[in-house]
Amino acid sequence: MKWLSVVAVAASALAINPIEVVGNKFYDSITGERFMIKGVAYQQKPAYAAADETSFVDPLADGDACKRDIEYLKQLDTNTVRVYAVSSNQSHDECMAAFADAGIYVVADLAAPDLAITSSVDSWEWSVKLFDRYKAVIDDLGKYDNVLGFFAGNEVSNAKNNTDASAFVKAAVRDSKQYIKDNHDTFGRAIPVGYATTDANDIRVRTAHYFACGDAADRADFFGISMYEWCGAAVDFDTSGYKNRTEDYADMPIPVFFSEYGCLDSDGPRPFNEVAALYSDDMTDVWSGGIVYTYQEQGDDYGLVSVSAGNVSTSDDFINLSAQMAQLPSPSYSPRASASASASASSEEASATVACPAVRFGEWNASPKLPPTPDADTCACVVNSLECVVEDFVREEDYNELFGMVCGLDPSLCGAINVNTGTGKYGGMSFCSMRDKVSFVLDAFYQDQGKAADACDWYGAARIVTPAPVDDSCKAKIAAASSQTVRPW
Ligand SMILES: *[C@@H]1O[C@H](CO)[C@@H](O)[C@H](O)[C@H]1NC(C)=O
Ligand SMILES: *[C@@H]1O[C@H](CO)[C@@H](O)[C@H](O)[C@H]1NC(C)=O
Ligand SMILES: *[C@@H]1O[C@H](CO)[C@@H](O)[C@H](O)[C@H]1NC(C)=O
Ligand SMILES: *[C@@H]1O[C@H](CO)[C@@H](O)[C@H](O)[C@H]1NC(C)=O
Ligand SMILES: *[C@@H]1O[C@H](CO)[C@@H](O)[C@H](O)[C@H]1NC(C)=O
Repeated sequence: MKWLSVVAVAASALAINPIEVVGNKFYDSITGERFMIKGVAYQQKPAYAAADETSFVDPLADGDACKRDIEYLKQLDTNTVRVYAVSSNQSHDECMAAFADAGIYVVADLAAPDLAITSSVDSWEWSVKLFDRYKAVIDDLGKYDNVLGFFAGNEVSNAKNNTDASAFVKAAVRDSKQYIKDNHDTFGRAIPVGYATTDANDIRVRTAHYFACGDAADRADFFGISMYEWCGAAVDFDTSGYKNRTEDYADMPIPVFFSEYGCLDSDGPRPFNEVAALYSDDMTDVWSGGIVYTYQEQGDDYGLVSVSAGNVSTSDDFINLSAQMAQLPSPSYSPRASASASASASSEEASATVACPAVRFGEWNASPKLPPTPDADTCACVVNSLECVVEDFVREEDYNELFGMVCGLDPSLCGAINVNTGTGKYGGMSFCSMRDKVSFVLDAFYQDQGKAADACDWYGAARIVTPAPVDDSCKAKIAAASSQTVRPW
């Protein structure tokens, strides 16, 4: 009897089949059926508001709220919710189990509002700190079978002058995939990792190709686009822009879907006529569905429901969307090819690829040669070996002044902290914290000045220290870090 109950528990934990990527489509990994995302964004602000917002409500931490919302999500035929930021130290068991029981998958962003690569130049790095955050979320959510995948970045490059940022996001994709692979015993499968972009006219196709090109280990497993082109009831597949977008992405070798959609028309409730197009033959060969923005009303009219004192009330948008979902014809998508055919098809499709966009000044500034994998040991080895370091009381906002002074006096001292996304060259300390980097350049100056006492002062911002003994593995890391130098131009 004991044995039976153990089996029953195991069986219920396996109640939802993981989704896998084969070629440019998602499939149920057990039945082989095509998986089309019928999604709803599921997070309260400010997780996707201004980048400096640090507090957010974890949408997967309140089991009662998840259970309450499932009946509404089911009325929208939802099979996926998108969450933008979760806390890596709260239990998500209740929400994840409730969603799994309801046949609902979760696609989760790995970043947090205060820990993300964004379009703003200050955030352009793939750092030890950010990789730690990503690993913590993967560790936490990776154990659930109903995790559809992870976004390693959201709406980062949106214009020609911030394409640099995509190099760091693609490095985040690569390292998150590798982390999942290295911990296969824990996760049991290659959970897909992708990227979600804005629908930016100037860089649309280049962004898509950048994330889908290059070595298999570097490539995004899927690509989402925030799509707000279909507005109102007066447009159709052709006139909305959807036809052109479908042509733009037709060559993508990985699944493509709307990581957000639902244009807010000023004349009344959203009709959601685009739903019929999105799940029709016009689009399903290229697209794998989409995620409607957004579940809960937050004062900007995008909400499908309002929640007041724990009670849910549905909007006219909700009624329209639910009607549109209900009237979709039963799908006739092809299942995954049979096991043997699938092996050859998938190796064929895996070799189907797109060319990386050419690097051109002012047009596209992200080389397929990606930033290095952040390595905390390298930073620690280097910092422990320094003889001149920044004082603890110096604030992060004052580091730039120190960088400016040292690197202005002698740019060659700062090569190990510089990056050049266009040439794909990255200094060996470029992933370390600002504090570690500032100490590194202060020490470089001090050494360069023959350890003159006044060369480690900077008006009291730096101090001389006795370095710790350096072991052999540290020696190698220090040598590597200081030899990888980049000119800032
Ligand atoms: C949980 O994580 C947040 C943000 O990372 C942190 O501020 C908080 O102290 C953590 N709480 C616990 C109990 O570890
Ligand atoms: C890119 O251009 C926009 C508009 O001209 C500007 O607001 C933004 O600061 C620029 N971004 C960068 C990183 O230079
Ligand atoms: C689609 O692309 C064609 C060719 O570039 C263009 O003429 C047409 O205006 C576009 N349609 C929409 C709705 O943007
Ligand atoms: C959407 O809802 C409004 C208000 O209930 C209704 O007038 C309209 O016909 C609906 N549109 C569609 C396409 O169902
Ligand atoms: C929420 O629902 C409960 C039970 O139906 C009801 O007693 C309460 O008044 C409702 N609260 C609000 C704010 O509508």
